[in-house]
Amino acid sequence: MGWNSWNRFQTNIDERLVRETADAMIETGMRDAGYRYVVVDDGWEGARRTASGDLAPNDRFASGIASLTDAVHARGMRFGIYTDAGTGTCAGFLGSLGFEFRDARRFAEWGVDYVKVDWCNTGGLGTHAVYWKWSQAFRAAGRPMLLSVCEWGRTSPWRWAARVGHLWRTCWDIQDTWVSLLGVLDRQRGLAPFSGPDRWNDPDMLEVGNGGMSLEEYRAHFSLWCLLAAPLMAGNDVRAMPEDVRDILVAPEPIAVDQDPLGRQGDLVRADGGREVWARELADGSCAVVLFDPSDAAGEVAVSWPELGWDARDRAVVRDLWQRADLGTFAEGYATGVAAHSARMLRIARVEG
Ligand code: GLA
Repeated sequence: MGWNSWNRFQTNIDERLVRETADAMIETGMRDAGYRYVVVDDGWEGARRTASGDLAPNDRFASGIASLTDAVHARGMRFGIYTDAGTGTCAGFLGSLGFEFRDARRFAEWGVDYVKVDWCNTGGLGTHAVYWKWSQAFRAAGRPMLLSVCEWGRTSPWRWAARVGHLWRTCWDIQDTWVSLLGVLDRQRGLAPFSGPDRWNDPDMLEVGNGGMSLEEYRAHFSLWCLLAAPLMAGNDVRAMPEDVRDILVAPEPIAVDQDPLGRQGDLVRADGGREVWARELADGSCAVVLFDPSDAAGEVAVSWPELGWDARDRAVVRDLWQRADLGTFAEGYATGVAAHSARMLRIARVEG
C-alpha cells in the first residue's frame, strides 16, 4: 500500500509535492491505515547522465533523491522510484537500458525501497530476460528493494514475474472513468491462482478522488481492488482530499480484506443479468464478497452459500464492510439491491454448529 504520483500529477511533480504528500499521509491517517510507500513515478529524471554514467534528478528535485528518501524514512514510510527498462521512459525521460546494475546500485545508495520498472522504448527486447537482469541487479545492489514489473500484462507476467519481482501489472493504464475501470476489471478474471504473499497481480493504481467518477463508483473501485488483493496505491492529491474521499481510502474493513494474511486473491463467481458476484476466501475461513452492478440500472444481486463452497443449510453472519454493521444471520444465501454503478462489500462468516 502506498501513494504514487502518476495518476493525478503525471510529470508535473517536484520534491515539495513528495514531502507535502508524505506529511499529508500522516495527517490524514493514511500512513497508519497501511499506506507505507511514497512512490515518485516518471518525471524526476534529469536530461542526461552524470559524467560517471549515473541517473540524476532534474532541477525540480534539486535537493537530491537521497534527501527525499531520508525525509520519507524519517516519517516512518518507505520510498519508491520509477525507471524504464528501455532507452527512454514512457514520458520521454532517460531509460535504464544497459545501465541496470549501475542504476540499481544508485537507487540502493539513495535508500530506495521500491522500484517500478516500466516497458516503453524496449524495441525487440524480451521481458523475461530484461526483468531477470533487473532482479540480479537488485541482488548485487545489496539493499532489499521491491521490484514492480510494469509491462502491462503483455507477456502474461503472472506466469513468470514472481521469479524476478514482487508485483506485476496485468493490464494497460487505468484511467479515471467508469469505462476504463470495467475494462481493467475484465482483465483480472482468472488471474487469482497466480497471486499470493510476495507475488501480486497489479491491476494498476487507484483513481479514487481524482474527480472523474462518483463517490459510489470510487467505493466500488476500492471494494473490487481489495477483493483482488491488489497493491493499493492511492493516486490522488492527498494534500487536498475531501473527507468523503479519505473515508474511502482509509476504510478499515475493506483494507483488512485487501491485506488478509492468507493472501488469496478473489475472483468472479458469477455474472448474470449484467450483475456480478466476486468472492475471496479469508484467513479465518470467512469470505469477502462484492456484489457489483456495473450496469446503468439498479437491480438485485444474490450470492448463495454453495457458490462460496458451503452447504445451503449452513447459517452465516453477513456483515456490510462499508456500513461496518452486521446485517443478520442467513441460511442458503443473501440477496440485496445494488444501485447502478456501485458495489456492496460484505464479509460472510459461517456460524458453527
Ligand atoms: C506507463 C505506466 C504508467 C506510468 C507512465 C509514466 O504508462 O504504465 O503507470 O508509469 O508510464 O510515463
